[in-house]
Amino acid sequence: MEKIGILTSGGDCSGMNAAIRAVVRCAIYHGLSVSGIKRGFEGLIQNQLVEMDLSSVGGIINHGGTILETARCLEFKTEAGIKKAVDTLKKHRIEGLVVIGGDGSFRGAHELSAKWSVPTIGVPATIDNDIAGTDYAIGFDTAVNTALQAVDKIRDTASSLRRLFVVEVMGRQAGFIALETGLAGGAEEVLIPEKDTDLEKMCKKIVKGYQRGKRSSIIIVAEGNESGGAFRIAQQIGDRTGFEVRVSVLGHQQRGGSPTALDRVLASRLGAAAVEQLVKGNTDKMVGIISNRVEVSNLDYAWRFQKQTNLSLLRLIEILSI
Ligand code: F6P
Repeated sequence: MEKIGILTSGGDCSGMNAAIRAVVRCAIYHGLSVSGIKRGFEGLIQNQLVEMDLSSVGGIINHGGTILETARCLEFKTEAGIKKAVDTLKKHRIEGLVVIGGDGSFRGAHELSAKWSVPTIGVPATIDNDIAGTDYAIGFDTAVNTALQAVDKIRDTASSLRRLFVVEVMGRQAGFIALETGLAGGAEEVLIPEKDTDLEKMCKKIVKGYQRGKRSSIIIVAEGNESGGAFRIAQQIGDRTGFEVRVSVLGHQQRGGSPTALDRVLASRLGAAAVEQLVKGNTDKMVGIISNRVEVSNLDYAWRFQKQTNLSLLRLIEILSI
Protein backbone atom coordinates (compact mmCIF):
# COMPACT_ATOMS: atom_id res chain seq x y z
CA MET A 1 0.00 0.00 0.00
CA GLU A 2 1.37 3.39 -0.99
CA LYS A 3 -1.49 5.83 -0.82
CA ILE A 4 -4.61 6.24 1.29
CA GLY A 5 -7.55 8.63 1.25
CA ILE A 6 -9.32 10.30 4.12
CA LEU A 7 -12.74 11.92 4.37
CA THR A 8 -15.14 13.28 6.96
CA SER A 9 -18.82 12.58 6.39
CA GLY A 10 -22.26 13.37 7.86
CA GLY A 11 -22.69 15.83 10.71
CA ASP A 12 -19.47 17.57 11.70
CA CYS A 13 -18.25 17.56 15.30
CA SER A 14 -15.37 18.87 17.35
CA GLY A 15 -12.34 16.59 17.22
CA MET A 16 -12.66 15.69 13.53
CA ASN A 17 -9.64 17.89 12.77
CA ALA A 18 -7.59 16.17 15.46
CA ALA A 19 -8.51 12.84 13.85
CA ILE A 20 -7.53 14.09 10.36
CA ARG A 21 -4.19 15.25 11.76
CA ALA A 22 -3.56 11.87 13.37
CA VAL A 23 -4.44 9.94 10.20
CA VAL A 24 -2.25 12.11 7.95
CA ARG A 25 0.77 12.16 10.24
CA CYS A 26 0.53 8.50 11.14
CA ALA A 27 0.22 7.56 7.45
CA ILE A 28 3.29 9.62 6.57
CA TYR A 29 5.13 7.94 9.49
CA HIS A 30 4.32 4.60 7.81
CA GLY A 31 5.63 5.84 4.45
CA LEU A 32 2.21 6.39 2.86
CA SER A 33 0.98 9.42 0.98
CA VAL A 34 -2.47 10.81 1.73
CA SER A 35 -5.24 12.35 -0.37
CA GLY A 36 -7.80 14.46 1.49
CA ILE A 37 -11.27 14.10 -0.01
CA LYS A 38 -13.36 17.26 0.30
CA ARG A 39 -17.00 17.20 1.47
CA GLY A 40 -17.20 13.50 2.26
CA PHE A 41 -18.58 11.01 -0.25
CA GLU A 42 -19.84 13.91 -2.37
CA GLY A 43 -16.25 15.01 -3.00
CA LEU A 44 -15.32 11.43 -3.81
CA ILE A 45 -18.04 11.30 -6.46
CA GLN A 46 -17.10 14.75 -7.81
CA ASN A 47 -13.34 14.12 -7.75
CA GLN A 48 -12.53 16.88 -5.24
CA LEU A 49 -9.23 15.89 -3.72
CA VAL A 50 -6.30 17.69 -2.09
CA GLU A 51 -2.90 16.24 -1.33
CA MET A 52 -2.10 16.28 2.38
CA ASP A 53 1.34 16.68 3.91
CA LEU A 54 2.68 17.22 7.41
CA SER A 55 2.07 20.95 7.37
CA SER A 56 -1.43 20.72 5.87
CA VAL A 57 -2.62 19.46 9.24
CA GLY A 58 -0.55 21.85 11.35
CA GLY A 59 -2.38 24.07 13.85
CA ILE A 60 -5.73 22.28 13.54
CA ILE A 61 -5.85 20.02 16.61
CA ASN A 62 -7.58 22.74 18.63
CA HIS A 63 -10.13 23.75 15.99
CA GLY A 64 -13.75 22.57 15.72
CA GLY A 65 -15.39 21.64 12.41
CA THR A 66 -13.46 19.80 9.71
CA ILE A 67 -10.87 21.26 7.34
CA LEU A 68 -11.96 18.69 4.75
CA GLU A 69 -15.59 19.84 5.10
CA THR A 70 -18.42 17.33 5.12
CA ALA A 71 -21.77 16.55 3.50
CA ARG A 72 -24.75 14.26 3.78
CA CYS A 73 -24.62 12.68 0.30
CA LEU A 74 -27.70 11.04 -1.18
CA GLU A 75 -26.07 10.18 -4.52
CA PHE A 76 -23.63 7.87 -2.74
CA LYS A 77 -26.61 5.67 -1.81
CA THR A 78 -27.11 4.85 -5.50
CA GLU A 79 -25.18 2.26 -7.50
CA ALA A 80 -24.14 4.92 -10.02
CA GLY A 81 -22.88 7.20 -7.25
CA ILE A 82 -20.74 4.50 -5.65
CA LYS A 83 -19.36 3.57 -9.07
CA LYS A 84 -18.22 7.17 -9.64
CA ALA A 85 -16.61 7.21 -6.18
CA VAL A 86 -14.73 3.99 -6.91
CA ASP A 87 -13.55 5.42 -10.25
CA THR A 88 -12.13 8.46 -8.41
CA LEU A 89 -10.26 6.18 -6.00
CA LYS A 90 -8.82 4.18 -8.92
CA LYS A 91 -7.88 7.31 -10.84
CA HIS A 92 -5.83 8.59 -7.91
CA ARG A 93 -4.42 5.14 -7.06
CA ILE A 94 -5.89 5.29 -3.58
CA GLU A 95 -5.58 1.85 -2.02
CA GLY A 96 -7.26 2.41 1.33
CA LEU A 97 -9.75 4.80 2.87
CA VAL A 98 -10.35 6.21 6.35
CA VAL A 99 -13.93 7.39 6.90
CA ILE A 100 -14.51 9.66 9.89
CA GLY A 101 -18.20 10.00 10.79
CA GLY A 102 -21.30 8.35 12.24
CA ASP A 103 -23.24 5.19 11.44
CA GLY A 104 -24.71 6.59 8.20
CA SER A 105 -21.20 7.21 6.92
CA PHE A 106 -20.16 3.73 7.99
CA ARG A 107 -22.91 2.19 5.87
CA GLY A 108 -21.31 3.86 2.85
CA ALA A 109 -17.86 2.73 3.96
CA HIS A 110 -19.15 -0.84 4.35
CA GLU A 111 -20.54 -0.79 0.80
CA LEU A 112 -17.17 0.31 -0.56
CA SER A 113 -15.38 -2.40 1.32
CA ALA A 114 -17.78 -5.33 1.01
CA LYS A 115 -19.01 -4.81 -2.56
CA TRP A 116 -16.17 -2.90 -4.22
CA SER A 117 -13.17 -4.34 -2.34
CA VAL A 118 -11.87 -0.96 -1.23
CA PRO A 119 -9.98 -1.40 2.08
CA THR A 120 -11.91 0.88 4.43
CA ILE A 121 -11.67 1.69 8.13
CA GLY A 122 -14.19 3.80 10.08
CA VAL A 123 -13.42 6.25 12.87
CA PRO A 124 -16.52 7.03 15.00
CA ALA A 125 -17.24 10.75 15.25
CA THR A 126 -20.66 12.09 16.22
CA ILE A 127 -21.94 14.19 19.09
CA ASP A 128 -24.82 11.70 19.44
CA ASN A 129 -22.47 8.94 20.70
CA ASP A 130 -24.94 6.38 19.34
CA ILE A 131 -22.40 4.05 17.72
CA ALA A 132 -22.05 0.51 19.02
CA GLY A 133 -18.48 -0.78 19.33
CA THR A 134 -17.09 2.25 21.13
CA ASP A 135 -17.74 3.71 24.58
CA TYR A 136 -17.22 7.21 23.18
CA ALA A 137 -17.43 8.74 19.73
CA ILE A 138 -15.27 11.76 18.91
CA GLY A 139 -17.18 15.01 19.54
CA PHE A 140 -19.45 13.71 22.28
CA ASP A 141 -17.41 15.00 25.21
CA THR A 142 -17.10 18.48 23.69
CA ALA A 143 -20.84 18.59 22.99
CA VAL A 144 -21.64 17.59 26.59
CA ASN A 145 -19.27 20.25 27.94
CA THR A 146 -20.78 22.90 25.67
CA ALA A 147 -24.30 21.95 26.77
CA LEU A 148 -23.15 21.90 30.40
CA GLN A 149 -21.73 25.42 30.18
CA ALA A 150 -25.07 26.61 28.83
CA VAL A 151 -26.99 24.80 31.59
CA ASP A 152 -24.75 26.34 34.28
CA LYS A 153 -25.46 29.80 32.88
CA ILE A 154 -29.18 29.10 32.65
CA ARG A 155 -29.08 27.95 36.28
CA ASP A 156 -27.81 31.41 37.31
CA THR A 157 -30.74 33.24 35.78
CA ALA A 158 -33.23 30.52 36.79
CA SER A 159 -32.22 30.76 40.48
CA SER A 160 -32.29 34.55 40.43
CA LEU A 161 -35.88 34.62 39.20
CA ARG A 162 -37.03 31.31 40.76
CA ARG A 163 -37.80 29.97 37.32
CA LEU A 164 -38.20 26.64 35.66
CA PHE A 165 -36.37 26.02 32.39
CA VAL A 166 -36.73 23.32 29.79
CA VAL A 167 -33.44 22.93 27.94
CA GLU A 168 -33.36 20.90 24.72
CA VAL A 169 -30.16 19.16 23.67
CA MET A 170 -29.32 17.25 20.48
CA GLY A 171 -28.72 13.53 20.16
CA ARG A 172 -31.07 12.36 17.42
CA GLN A 173 -32.82 9.19 18.76
CA ALA A 174 -30.40 8.76 21.66
CA GLY A 175 -30.21 10.31 25.11
CA PHE A 176 -26.46 10.19 25.73
CA ILE A 177 -25.91 13.97 25.64
CA ALA A 178 -29.01 14.60 27.74
CA LEU A 179 -28.07 12.08 30.43
CA GLU A 180 -24.49 13.25 30.95
CA THR A 181 -25.39 16.94 30.75
CA GLY A 182 -28.26 16.38 33.15
CA LEU A 183 -26.19 14.51 35.71
CA ALA A 184 -23.28 16.96 35.53
CA GLY A 185 -25.57 20.00 35.58
CA GLY A 186 -27.68 18.86 38.54
CA ALA A 187 -30.84 18.77 36.42
CA GLU A 188 -34.11 18.08 38.18
CA GLU A 189 -35.33 15.81 35.36
CA VAL A 190 -33.98 14.35 32.13
CA LEU A 191 -36.26 13.17 29.31
CA ILE A 192 -34.67 10.73 26.88
CA PRO A 193 -35.98 8.66 23.95
CA GLU A 194 -34.94 5.39 25.62
CA LYS A 195 -37.45 5.69 28.48
CA ASP A 196 -40.94 7.13 28.76
CA THR A 197 -41.49 9.88 31.32
CA ASP A 198 -44.52 10.19 33.57
CA LEU A 199 -45.15 13.93 33.17
CA GLU A 200 -47.73 14.00 35.97
CA LYS A 201 -45.27 12.49 38.45
CA MET A 202 -42.52 14.79 37.21
CA CYS A 203 -44.66 17.89 37.75
CA LYS A 204 -45.60 16.82 41.30
CA LYS A 205 -41.91 16.42 42.09
CA ILE A 206 -41.12 19.88 40.70
CA VAL A 207 -43.88 21.51 42.77
CA LYS A 208 -42.67 19.66 45.88
CA GLY A 209 -39.14 20.90 45.22
CA TYR A 210 -40.29 24.53 45.17
CA GLN A 211 -42.37 23.97 48.31
CA ARG A 212 -39.29 22.85 50.20
CA GLY A 213 -37.33 25.91 49.03
CA LYS A 214 -35.77 25.11 45.64
CA ARG A 215 -35.03 28.30 43.73
CA SER A 216 -34.80 26.79 40.25
CA SER A 217 -35.56 23.71 38.19
CA ILE A 218 -33.93 22.59 34.99
CA ILE A 219 -35.46 19.87 32.84
CA ILE A 220 -33.16 18.53 30.14
CA VAL A 221 -34.97 17.21 27.10
CA ALA A 222 -33.26 15.07 24.46
CA GLU A 223 -34.54 16.13 21.04
CA GLY A 224 -35.77 12.61 20.20
CA ASN A 225 -37.78 11.98 23.39
CA GLU A 226 -41.33 10.63 23.17
CA SER A 227 -43.11 13.49 24.96
CA GLY A 228 -42.28 16.00 22.21
CA GLY A 229 -40.00 19.00 21.73
CA ALA A 230 -39.03 21.44 24.47
CA PHE A 231 -41.84 23.90 23.70
CA ARG A 232 -44.54 21.22 23.88
CA ILE A 233 -43.17 19.87 27.14
CA ALA A 234 -42.90 23.38 28.60
CA GLN A 235 -46.54 23.98 27.72
CA GLN A 236 -47.60 20.76 29.43
CA ILE A 237 -45.59 21.56 32.57
CA GLY A 238 -46.99 25.09 32.63
CA ASP A 239 -50.57 23.77 32.32
CA ARG A 240 -50.08 21.26 35.13
CA THR A 241 -48.13 23.43 37.60
CA GLY A 242 -49.21 26.97 36.77
CA PHE A 243 -45.52 27.94 36.65
CA GLU A 244 -44.10 30.30 34.06
CA VAL A 245 -41.75 28.07 32.07
CA ARG A 246 -38.89 29.25 29.89
CA VAL A 247 -37.37 27.25 27.03
CA SER A 248 -33.86 27.14 25.66
CA VAL A 249 -33.00 25.03 22.62
CA LEU A 250 -29.21 24.70 22.50
CA GLY A 251 -29.00 23.51 18.88
CA HIS A 252 -25.94 23.48 16.69
CA GLN A 253 -23.59 25.19 19.14
CA GLN A 254 -23.18 21.66 20.54
CA ARG A 255 -21.43 20.62 17.32
CA GLY A 256 -18.75 23.32 17.29
CA GLY A 257 -15.99 24.84 19.36
CA SER A 258 -12.51 23.83 20.40
CA PRO A 259 -12.45 20.11 21.27
CA THR A 260 -11.91 19.07 24.89
CA ALA A 261 -8.68 17.30 25.86
CA LEU A 262 -10.64 14.03 26.01
CA ASP A 263 -11.83 14.43 22.42
CA ARG A 264 -8.37 15.39 21.17
CA VAL A 265 -6.78 12.38 22.84
CA LEU A 266 -9.52 10.06 21.57
CA ALA A 267 -9.28 11.44 18.02
CA SER A 268 -5.48 11.09 18.02
CA ARG A 269 -5.62 7.48 19.25
CA LEU A 270 -8.40 6.40 16.88
CA GLY A 271 -6.96 8.21 13.85
CA ALA A 272 -3.60 6.51 14.36
CA ALA A 273 -5.29 3.13 14.96
CA ALA A 274 -7.24 3.45 11.70
CA VAL A 275 -4.03 3.84 9.71
CA GLU A 276 -2.45 0.90 11.52
CA GLN A 277 -5.44 -1.24 10.57
CA LEU A 278 -5.02 -0.35 6.90
CA VAL A 279 -1.28 -1.02 7.07
CA LYS A 280 -2.01 -4.46 8.58
CA GLY A 281 -4.27 -5.19 5.59
CA ASN A 282 -7.55 -5.04 7.48
CA THR A 283 -10.77 -3.74 5.96
CA ASP A 284 -14.46 -3.23 6.78
CA LYS A 285 -13.56 -2.44 10.40
CA MET A 286 -14.22 0.33 12.86
CA VAL A 287 -11.75 1.41 15.53
CA GLY A 288 -13.28 2.32 18.88
CA ILE A 289 -12.44 2.81 22.52
CA ILE A 290 -13.69 0.32 25.09
CA SER A 291 -12.62 0.57 28.74
CA ASN A 292 -9.88 2.97 27.59
CA ARG A 293 -8.38 0.44 25.15
CA VAL A 294 -8.50 0.76 21.39
CA GLU A 295 -10.65 -2.08 20.05
CA VAL A 296 -11.53 -3.10 16.51
CA SER A 297 -15.00 -4.27 15.45
CA ASN A 298 -16.75 -5.04 12.17
CA LEU A 299 -18.11 -1.87 10.55
CA ASP A 300 -21.67 -3.18 10.37
CA TYR A 301 -21.68 -3.70 14.15
CA ALA A 302 -22.01 0.09 14.40
CA TRP A 303 -25.59 0.06 13.12
CA ARG A 304 -26.71 -3.55 13.50
CA PHE A 305 -26.45 -3.34 17.28
CA GLN A 306 -28.11 -0.66 19.34
CA LYS A 307 -25.72 0.92 21.79
CA GLN A 308 -27.16 0.60 25.28
CA THR A 309 -27.87 3.75 27.25
CA ASN A 310 -26.85 3.57 30.88
CA LEU A 311 -30.27 3.94 32.47
CA SER A 312 -28.79 3.78 35.97
CA LEU A 313 -27.71 7.40 35.35
CA LEU A 314 -31.38 8.33 35.12
CA ARG A 315 -32.01 6.72 38.49
CA LEU A 316 -29.02 8.58 39.95
CA ILE A 317 -30.34 11.90 38.61
CA GLU A 318 -33.68 11.10 40.25
CA ILE A 319 -32.01 10.47 43.62
CA LEU A 320 -29.62 13.39 43.53
CA SER A 321 -32.10 16.00 42.36
CA ILE A 322 -34.73 15.37 45.01
O1 F6P B 1 -26.03 13.67 14.27
C1 F6P B 1 -25.61 14.89 14.76
C2 F6P B 1 -26.75 15.87 14.84
O2 F6P B 1 -26.27 17.10 15.36
C3 F6P B 1 -27.96 15.39 15.65
O3 F6P B 1 -27.77 15.50 17.03
C4 F6P B 1 -29.05 16.27 15.11
O4 F6P B 1 -30.31 15.66 15.25
C5 F6P B 1 -28.68 16.40 13.66
O5 F6P B 1 -27.29 16.10 13.55
C6 F6P B 1 -28.92 17.76 13.07
O6 F6P B 1 -28.64 17.69 11.71
P1 F6P B 1 -28.47 18.97 10.78
O7 F6P B 1 -27.15 19.59 11.10
O8 F6P B 1 -28.51 18.42 9.41
O9 F6P B 1 -29.58 19.90 11.11
